[in-house]
Amino acid sequence: MSLRVALSPAGLDPGTLDRQAVLMIDVFRASTTIVTALANGARAVIPVADKGEAGRLAATLDRDMSVMAGERGGQQLAGFALGNSPRSFTPEVVRGRTVVLTTTNGTAALVKARGAERLAVGALANATAATAFLAQALDDGLDVTLLCAGWEGHVVLEDTLCAGLFVDRLASHPRATPTDDGARIASSLYRGAQADLARVLFVADHSKRLIEVGAGDDLSDCARIDVSDVLPVLRDSRIVAA
Ligand code: MLT
Repeated sequence: MSLRVALSPAGLDPGTLDRQAVLMIDVFRASTTIVTALANGARAVIPVADKGEAGRLAATLDRDMSVMAGERGGQQLAGFALGNSPRSFTPEVVRGRTVVLTTTNGTAALVKARGAERLAVGALANATAATAFLAQALDDGLDVTLLCAGWEGHVVLEDTLCAGLFVDRLASHPRATPTDDGARIASSLYRGAQADLARVLFVADHSKRLIEVGAGDDLSDCARIDVSDVLPVLRDSRIVAA
């Protein structure tokens, strides 16, 4: 068994996914958004890689029972009912509906990891539920990869910190020895920041981008730890609450 951190999707080994449990992490904001949508009653979230696929999928769904959410560069896509702000996925909007979601990084990472034996979504918001998913996978003899969505292929502070939190929370698990530099980097970064995690998160590049596009209010929401016990898992190409 191994415990790896792919600091960006480039670090995911697609050739061994069938023996892996993958936790996709996109703190700002897709992971937090998906946890929030399911916690607020969404039936499912369907991650799609691009706008065209989102449109084609929407055409097959009941308009009253689905909602389209799209973001690029931190901003809502034209023609989509929602962007990628967790605040927008209220019970009134998502309860009982299927959310079709396409974002710059998080949904692309999910699509890349779709072949995993097990695939779940982790954030600070559902840290305990996500840690339990990882521990169970290790108990069951699977290799574990924490997949950081990053930003346009680059490593980002917030996802790496969150991955480090999971590595740290698994420290007492007998099979959770960090296996690669990604896990060691993430764990060290988190241990150095944990005393004031929110302050460190707020200096991240993407924090500045979100503030610039008027989504600065999302930062505090995404920085909250364990506000939900929802574990989003992929089943038949849809993400549902476990
Ligand atoms: C994401 O995938 O979460 C987006 O790229 C970032 C955002 O929504 O601002």
